[in-house]
Amino acid sequence: MKYGKKIWMNGKLVPFKDANVHVLTHALHYSTAVFEGIRCYNTPKGSAIFRLKEHIDRLFNSAKLYSMKMDYSKKQISNAIIKTVRTSGLKECYIRPIAYCGVGAVGLTPPLDNIDVSIACWEWKIGESKAGKYSGAKCKISSWIRIDSRSQPMKSKAAANYSNAALARVEALKQGYDEAIMLNYDGKIAEGSAENIFIVNDAQIITPPLTSGVLEGITRDSIIRIIKENGGHVIETDIEKEDLYAAEEVFMTGTAAEVKSVTRVDNVRIGNGKPGKVTKALQKSFKKVSIGEDERFLSWLTYLK
Ligand SMILES: Cc1ncc(COP(=O)(O)O)c(C=O)c1O
Repeated sequence: MKYGKKIWMNGKLVPFKDANVHVLTHALHYSTAVFEGIRCYNTPKGSAIFRLKEHIDRLFNSAKLYSMKMDYSKKQISNAIIKTVRTSGLKECYIRPIAYCGVGAVGLTPPLDNIDVSIACWEWKIGESKAGKYSGAKCKISSWIRIDSRSQPMKSKAAANYSNAALARVEALKQGYDEAIMLNYDGKIAEGSAENIFIVNDAQIITPPLTSGVLEGITRDSIIRIIKENGGHVIETDIEKEDLYAAEEVFMTGTAAEVKSVTRVDNVRIGNGKPGKVTKALQKSFKKVSIGEDERFLSWLTYLK
């Protein structure tokens, strides 16, 4: 992995090797951290960060839901992200801002007015994927149920959500699959361990509603808007396990995954076992949008120059 040379920590750019935290950092013990995953794309007009405003808004909302007091404004964090990417020397990267409870009295009560923030980035090229994005991922319906908002605020992209997701991911990988799909407590399809999910059936594109307990994915929103702008629409409704097995196409969306085709769920082949037409068209459209080749969505890009 090629990392940016410097990491922004509480207002300073520090060399990669010095960007360390204390072992008594509260977040390390109690998962009191919220974070974002953002992409910067190499476009014909230079590097551009995708939907920076929406990611910043979600980061601050995530912190608010955990009563974490941010010492920086949205503008300061946006500028810090831009500065970190500029300094990195990377044209195309994944950006990881994280806000976390720092060192305080050790114990469960979080030091909510001692929030550290750091921003790192590393090289990640458009379309780059190991997990079957274009060839078709094999997914397993997880035996782990997606935790939901009755237990903790799932609108928050919090580290605390990810032990559940990581259990599902590891279970799937150990059994030879590429990714997990999680059901919610009502037995409906929720999401992947790090992606939202869509199915295509009878020319309808369907995704679980936000009330199903899924993360309000920014790529999910981008795809819904691209489909709408192109004259189509997405139905947000509960999806049963059997709808997934019977679907003509299944795809997942996420900042890392972009638009990932799914061609097998458990032992069931989806459609003809190859990435479907709608999925491939959306992969193309999303790529155009992310590199600024679709005028209608230029406002989603923050150019670094
Ligand atoms: C659980 C979960 N669902 C969905 C997503 C997709 O969200 P986004 O498109 O904002 O990256 C992610 C990505 O981080 C995730 O972790």
